[in-house]
Amino acid sequence: MEPAAQLDAVKHYTIQKLGTDLTGHGLDHIRRVVKMTKRIAQEEPVDEFTAVVAAYLHDTIDEKLVMNVKEAQDELREFLRKIDFTQDQITTIMEIITQMSFAKTLDGDRPTLSAEGQVVQDADWLDAIGGIGIVRAIYFGGKHGERIYDPTIKPREQLSRQDYRDLSHETIINHFYEKLLKIKGLLNTATAKKIAEHRQQVMLDFLDEFKQEWDSNA
Ligand code: ADP
Ligand code: NI
Repeated sequence: MEPAAQLDAVKHYTIQKLGTDLTGHGLDHIRRVVKMTKRIAQEEPVDEFTAVVAAYLHDTIDEKLVMNVKEAQDELREFLRKIDFTQDQITTIMEIITQMSFAKTLDGDRPTLSAEGQVVQDADWLDAIGGIGIVRAIYFGGKHGERIYDPTIKPREQLSRQDYRDLSHETIINHFYEKLLKIKGLLNTATAKKIAEHRQQVMLDFLDEFKQEWDSNA
């Protein structure tokens, strides 16, 4: 199968898997991550095709979104084999999408990603910050019953992987301090770091305004 047809098939696979998602990992997220992957890939010495395929597929095996991660991975491997990806390509793609999530960077053992993986990770993480990031955090927090803000609950300094998934004491505002404001410093590529500067400021301005209004000072 030609690469263009492979990409088309991959796109349809993702639509079938995430088309009905309402957790903030829907097709709009995928579309932005793919577009950002292409934008960053133009500035970095990477294989754009591999990066774009991984961008499309990166959330189709996510532990939060599928019932059985191993089955989802097996199904994806089989699908890629059927549309003529080589074993090497499949290994490369699976390595990227199983190792790139933010949760994997917690507990002090951040996986080493390929150059293509670093680009897709940056594209995915950029979608968690800035204006879109603010909306996604609120959307996620609302869906999971988080409180908006509680000044008596301090942000957790060293977030473990277990803490990250423990939402019982989480507030939407604390999520900015525990994760979102840290993303800028964790990005891989110079291109993404540059894009993150404006988005960081948008979040800082938002938090500042929020707190002013919270105290009725604004
Ligand atoms: P990853 O898969 O990279 O670990 P997630 O899938 O957990 O990231 O996050 C998806 C989106 O939901 C992101 O925009 C993230 O910031 C947001 N999110 C994750 N956890 C929380 C939380 N506790 N409160 C608010 N938003 C959250
Ligand atoms: Ni994602």
